[in-house]
Amino acid sequence: MVASISVPGQAHWSSKAAFVLAAVGSAVGLGNLWRFPSEAGANGGGAFVLIYILCVALIGAPLLLAETLIGRHGQRSTVGSAKLLARQSNASSGWAALAVIGMIANYLILTFYSVVAGWVLYFIWTSGADVARTVAAGQPFAGAYADLTIDQVRQQMPDLFADPVKMSIAHFIFAAATTFVVARGVKGGIEVAATWLMPAFFVLLLGITVYAGITGDFAAAVAFLFTPDFERALQPQVLNSALGQAFFSLSLGGGAMVAYGAYASRDTNLGQTSGLISAADTSVAIIAGLAIFPIVFSVGLTPDAGPTLMFQTLPAAFHSMPAGALVAFAFFVLALFAALTSSVSLLEISTAYLVERFKMSRTLAAGLLGGGFFLIGMVSVLSFNVWADHRPLALVPGFTNANWFDVFDGVTGRILLPLSGLITAVFIGWIADRKLVDEETGLKSGPLLPLWRFLVAWLCPIAVFLILLFGLFPQLIS
Ligand code: PFF
Repeated sequence: MVASISVPGQAHWSSKAAFVLAAVGSAVGLGNLWRFPSEAGANGGGAFVLIYILCVALIGAPLLLAETLIGRHGQRSTVGSAKLLARQSNASSGWAALAVIGMIANYLILTFYSVVAGWVLYFIWTSGADVARTVAAGQPFAGAYADLTIDQVRQQMPDLFADPVKMSIAHFIFAAATTFVVARGVKGGIEVAATWLMPAFFVLLLGITVYAGITGDFAAAVAFLFTPDFERALQPQVLNSALGQAFFSLSLGGGAMVAYGAYASRDTNLGQTSGLISAADTSVAIIAGLAIFPIVFSVGLTPDAGPTLMFQTLPAAFHSMPAGALVAFAFFVLALFAALTSSVSLLEISTAYLVERFKMSRTLAAGLLGGGFFLIGMVSVLSFNVWADHRPLALVPGFTNANWFDVFDGVTGRILLPLSGLITAVFIGWIADRKLVDEETGLKSGPLLPLWRFLVAWLCPIAVFLILLFGLFPQLIS
């Protein structure tokens, strides 16, 4: 029966802590572990980190408050909540288009997010088998994949990419797990997953960071992450990547935070929780950097490997580290926990919409959507092998060389999320009834409310407009 009452307007988190944990679970994901370090590595380390923190504080956190308040006010699906607020503000319900664009964007993100999470599952499998082998051999503290040469360890990722069957199985298992959690409902599924997996995630992350600090080159990592090169920091490319990363990492633009806000109780102070969620997500990104880079530097590898950092550079590093086998396994388990608590928030948005709009049971809605995103995700799976030569948007500037996977990632991250974030900022900053909005923020007295209003009404739209522009016309900044 849990499932049937998990309808927006009727379902609630069991406590404020559960809301914060679920929202942090949504924010903390592969974006922190896989995307942040590779973006930081590719964009000069300290320069990127500095701009990223500014983006989170000045744009991300204020928008997070704007999103959660739309949800909490409406207590409906993201589309329903946006419509309601528009209506109550005597504005056109066309403003709900923001939620529709966001919902589509997040559904498309889910299709490739699940594929990447499938890679994580595959590495849990191989590193788990490796732990079993080292333990059986009486050497539990051996390096990872000690029976392989370093080249063979690095070859695991290209081999996986060349194998659509393995990738699809892993993608399927992850898609099924995501669907299962969402089908079980807000309290019985999403909240349970967040309250078990997030604390386990934090313990594992701290453990690996301490390990990295002891066995790795911590000083080099600190220097890399915290020495800003100001000339580099102001390059449009760095600004663009940092803002895009802030959106992705805080789960903004697509409505995940609207969806979770809809289940928050009236006495939750959204101003406070938005600050807390943003701070927690950013801390995890930086701690993840402090866990990953010392390991990468200690074996003389370079930090700018990009998306292969987590699946190629890191396993190669664990190869020669003490207890590398155990730590590699722990690392991928941690990444899986983070990915699952994020993917459920991606699926929740469209599930809540179908339940509300078509009075469908939650199980049916999640099942249909789950099957759908698995199938669409297959396009991304095949883009690494069978369709590796396809360039679907070859004629579109900025996408000339993009395969299907890059198209899904690029169209959502560079266009749809910022677009929907831009509309949200304009909607909350200019259109929505001021009194209704201000009451929801919890920022009652002091300078915070006017500051927040300024950031949402002015800084967010202008800055987000710029990412959108550079996302569409990258040649403007090159
Ligand atoms: N914030 C997640 C991460 O950092 O991995 C990804 C994400 C989740 C993006 C939910 C968007 C979203 F709605």
